[in-house]
Amino acid sequence: MNPIKVGLLGIGTVGSGTYNVLKRNQEEIRRRAGRGIEIAVVADLNTELARELTGGEVEVVADANEVVNRPDIDIVVELIGGYGVARELVLKAIRNGKHVVTANKALLAVYGNEIFEAAREKGVIVAFEAAVAGGIPIIKALREGLTANRIQWIAGIINGTTNFILSEMRDKGLDFDTVLKEAQRLGYAEADPTFDIEGVDAAHKVTLMSSIAFGMPVQFDKAHVEGITRLSAVDIKYAEELGYRIKLLGLTRRREDGIELRVHPTLVPASRLIANVEGAMNAVLVQGDAVGATLYYGKGAGAEPTASAVIADLVDVTRLHTADPEHRVPHLAFQPDELSSVPVLPIDEVTSSYYLRMRVSDETGVLADITRILADAGISIDAMLQKESREGEPQTDIIMLSHLCREKQVNAAITKIEALPTVLSAVTRLRMEELN
Ligand code: HSE
Repeated sequence: MNPIKVGLLGIGTVGSGTYNVLKRNQEEIRRRAGRGIEIAVVADLNTELARELTGGEVEVVADANEVVNRPDIDIVVELIGGYGVARELVLKAIRNGKHVVTANKALLAVYGNEIFEAAREKGVIVAFEAAVAGGIPIIKALREGLTANRIQWIAGIINGTTNFILSEMRDKGLDFDTVLKEAQRLGYAEADPTFDIEGVDAAHKVTLMSSIAFGMPVQFDKAHVEGITRLSAVDIKYAEELGYRIKLLGLTRRREDGIELRVHPTLVPASRLIANVEGAMNAVLVQGDAVGATLYYGKGAGAEPTASAVIADLVDVTRLHTADPEHRVPHLAFQPDELSSVPVLPIDEVTSSYYLRMRVSDETGVLADITRILADAGISIDAMLQKESREGEPQTDIIMLSHLCREKQVNAAITKIEALPTVLSAVTRLRMEELN
């Protein structure tokens, strides 16, 4: 059988990784897919570099429209990124009856509903394993491997840049700005790291996982997104003293009244496997009612790890493109007419435990006032740490860990605590998840 023909849009890091792995493993991949997979054309504005990377073996064009309009191309691999031109090209490819493989989490988290609907109308596949956690086959696991389960929650370290920064802050006791500069110097953080450090990239990824886990349309606009830019080294240190590590988690959880969808720095017990995922690695923990907890770990970025996911999708499409669309795995794991309208809960309604740190005057009754406010708000204290005050400085840090409560309860209590004359600082509030 003739090879299936692929048009590659963008030959940067992931594109060149895809080209190289496909070439290196072509025989193994052909034996798995049932036919060869051939990159027939590459579109990249830098045609010279594209020719160099492909050794002159593949046709190179500057205009990606040429690729999505070519009748001989069966699958378009979109590796341009962003929501602008990538969205137009993906929709055009779909309208032209082509299957699409993409690593573009931003595009799917924001425009996924439109794109999946367009693909359904045309009977084509949009595959996106590489969009979440790079080389870890988490989309496959959620859509297929765990399909028997009522999924209860997912917690993921799904941004390598921030995990690297947090690991360095903890190991070296350095503050965020210092470590960010070092990460940029070493190439772990981009020159403009905004999407990573502000939690946006992780929110794109958890939005996609949430939709697949719970069978609901993608709703990035409802996700609560907090990054790590305001995290201080002292909280990492105090968390450690209390037996916790701070990780930027993408979390989504089924509650009785809706779905939680959130990204924020989170205290996780140091004894959990996921708390020990260090450096730029990714990990996703999924709790299903039948299987219990399953953990997926690996490289979340990089040329060949991400290519591994792109090529897995290419093989899937090669095997399935002649199948009746009704018999394929639905884009969001649930049949499109079975998607649920369950609401995404506002952050005020989220249930969590909390870490509270405050600076107080070291005098009689301070603790009693604070614990009274918490008790009146129905918040139960789980643990407490009081640092010794320094000689001649009658002030101290108090750190409290709460049991589960609603976020609005804790926010109301914090407002009252901050109004106490003996509380000398704003209260630092971090969320804490036991993940058991
Ligand atoms: N920038 C991402 C990360 C990889 O740091 O994990 C691509 O999503």
